[in-house]
Amino acid sequence: MLSASLKSHPAPVPTHIAIIMDGNGRWAKKRLLPRAAGHRKGADAVRKAVKGCIEHGISYLTLFAFSSENWKRPADEIDDLMGLLRLYIRQELDQLRKNGVKVRFIGDLSPFSDDIRSLISDAEAETAANNRLVLSIALNYGSHAEIARAARSLAQDAADGILRPSDITEEVFAAKLHTYGLPDPDLLIRTSGEKRLSNFLLWQSAYTELLFLDTLWPDFNRKALASAIHEFQSRERRFGARS
Ligand code: FPP
Repeated sequence: MLSASLKSHPAPVPTHIAIIMDGNGRWAKKRLLPRAAGHRKGADAVRKAVKGCIEHGISYLTLFAFSSENWKRPADEIDDLMGLLRLYIRQELDQLRKNGVKVRFIGDLSPFSDDIRSLISDAEAETAANNRLVLSIALNYGSHAEIARAARSLAQDAADGILRPSDITEEVFAAKLHTYGLPDPDLLIRTSGEKRLSNFLLWQSAYTELLFLDTLWPDFNRKALASAIHEFQSRERRFGARS
């Protein structure tokens, strides 16, 4: 039973939710559909997650849309994912802008085609002034590469005499990551029953609450988001201290 004081002061919602969207392929396979159909339905679930986050007053949503390991997939599946990304940006940009969503893309964007990179920079520029929800889409992202890149950049700064090794604090290091400017995630959700971080936000999730759901990503909806937030609110976060 909740005490009256707890009822009147509900636990805060997470400020930042990160999601590993997994299970599109299995969703399609269960229905004897091509994998592309699962990815398309996955893009619908992205729309629902963004809408739901706005409704719940979540400030930051970070989605793992394409990992640096996903290039190992067959060319036709990569083409489908790129097509879907183009479509998503073209179709959603207007709504995202109107809904006060600031879109940013994190990861090494250099291998993407020129047209995708220009869609990305236009989407970022057109939504830069928004502040209701910051939607970060991770593309060609991998934490090990991100951390190695940060270390390389700091080593270069030290070699150039811009900073001393003793100046490298956790904050200075974090400022070199793709996620610079984002608070660490409070809640990280992975769908589809897999219980791994798969090279996603390893530095940033040191104290993140992890939630592994059996739901396949295309089935993720407002109800699933509400129940994930509810589960987060029931957890006690101690950050290494005692309760
Ligand atoms: C994992 O499912 C999902 C992906 C590799 C891609 C995620 C992409 C989308 C949700 C659609 C487009 C995204 C945006 C932002 C528009 P999987 O294929 O690994 O599924 P499986 O493990 O069941 O095979």
